[in-house]
Amino acid sequence: FGTMNINDIGNFEIGNCDAVDLANEYGTPLYVMDEELVRNNCKLFNGNFLMEGIDTEVIYASKAFLNVAICKIIKEEGLSLDVVSGGELYTALKANFPPSKIYMHGNNKTEDELIFAIKSGVGRIIVDNRQELELLEILCEELDKNIDVLLRVNPGIEAHTHKYIQTSKNDSKFGESIFSEDIQFIINKFQMSNRVNLKGFHCHIGSQIFEENSFYSSALVMIEFMKEIENKCNFITKELNLGGGFGVRYSEEDDQMDIKRCLNTLLRLIKDGIENMNMSIPKLMIEPGRSIVANAGTTLYKIGGTKQTYGGKQYMFVDGGMTDNPRTALYDAKYEAVVANKMNFEYEEIYTVAGKCCESGDIIIKDIELPKVERNDVLAVLSTGAYNYSMSSNYNRILKPAVVFVKDGESRLAVKRETYEDLIRNDILL
Ligand code: LLP
Repeated sequence: FGTMNINDIGNFEIGNCDAVDLANEYGTPLYVMDEELVRNNCKLFNGNFLMEGIDTEVIYASKAFLNVAICKIIKEEGLSLDVVSGGELYTALKANFPPSKIYMHGNNKTEDELIFAIKSGVGRIIVDNRQELELLEILCEELDKNIDVLLRVNPGIEAHTHKYIQTSKNDSKFGESIFSEDIQFIINKFQMSNRVNLKGFHCHIGSQIFEENSFYSSALVMIEFMKEIENKCNFITKELNLGGGFGVRYSEEDDQMDIKRCLNTLLRLIKDGIENMNMSIPKLMIEPGRSIVANAGTTLYKIGGTKQTYGGKQYMFVDGGMTDNPRTALYDAKYEAVVANKMNFEYEEIYTVAGKCCESGDIIIKDIELPKVERNDVLAVLSTGAYNYSMSSNYNRILKPAVVFVKDGESRLAVKRETYEDLIRNDILL
């Protein structure tokens, strides 16, 4: 699966660093991010979401993986940033990410979060619904500020992905449906506002989508919607954000998306569609998250041992689990792995990789063929860069792992491992 970097002593390498050395130096579980791969992914999107005569912008959806170190890389690569909470916004600002390049999302932003976003001068707030527009007006008035926004709409596209990460069905909790009777009324409300300046629309059809046609359909539906709104409300869309969702190859079951071709087709379709309808081309944005970071991440675990069950299953236990990677338990996600210190060994066993949480569903990989392992071998689970660290928890009071960035044979600690002291930091003895 993919290209494996193996060094002279038969160990797995990430960014030219020996994975076994990383595990020993920083401890396990350990999230390892290959900086070069993150940067290449940024360049793949930024370098291909381009077309003569169209203003474009690539926005990294930070929910996939966020800390101050990644913000710096995203900033250097020239991408903007999508945040969905006060916490994500705070992290971005602490990393000196330019506020004007921050997009504030969320279907239920609190008043505090909205005030924080307005005061920080974020570039755009993505308004989710009519009530939020009303609240935003009041807050802007109180703060004596104006704000540029996009309205999140739901184009009703059913993308083929896990139902938990589909976001654009007609009864989705996100955005206002373009088919709703209220939609023109809402747009009129924006037009009457002195404080909230509607620039255009945002949509996002789901995540881990491989079917390019879903992206194209949603873009075409959005263009028709723009035309309708232009006719009925006399509103010219200046910005159109098409969201993220580009699929990533986690295992051999998954396809490989041709991002370059997909982005190019998308831009051409939009350009032709808009020109055919005699509209002017708005600024276009996309918001990839997973596809920027997933394949750049690897999780290293120490193996604690194995167990053969009476039922015939062979477990391999690792020193992490659903606390650092809940995706298998939550979405039945598939991952590939290698034994980092046994890269040239023969594959002769089938294991179920289980974590250390008190929960039967605490599985990272259901069945995987690997060399025979023993205690203290290092398991490297691949493509864990997205929605692993960001979805990690302290269930069973397990400590969150450290994050290390690697590049050209050098490693740098980006997030410290939690300590027991951190766990009780906010506890109060009554
Ligand atoms: N924009 C919006 C408005 C979104 O809601 C999302 C993801 C993205 C962009 C980025 O989508 P991506 O390019 O990463 O697919 N926890 C789930 C994924 C949830 C995605 C939520 N929204 C998982 O682990 O698969």
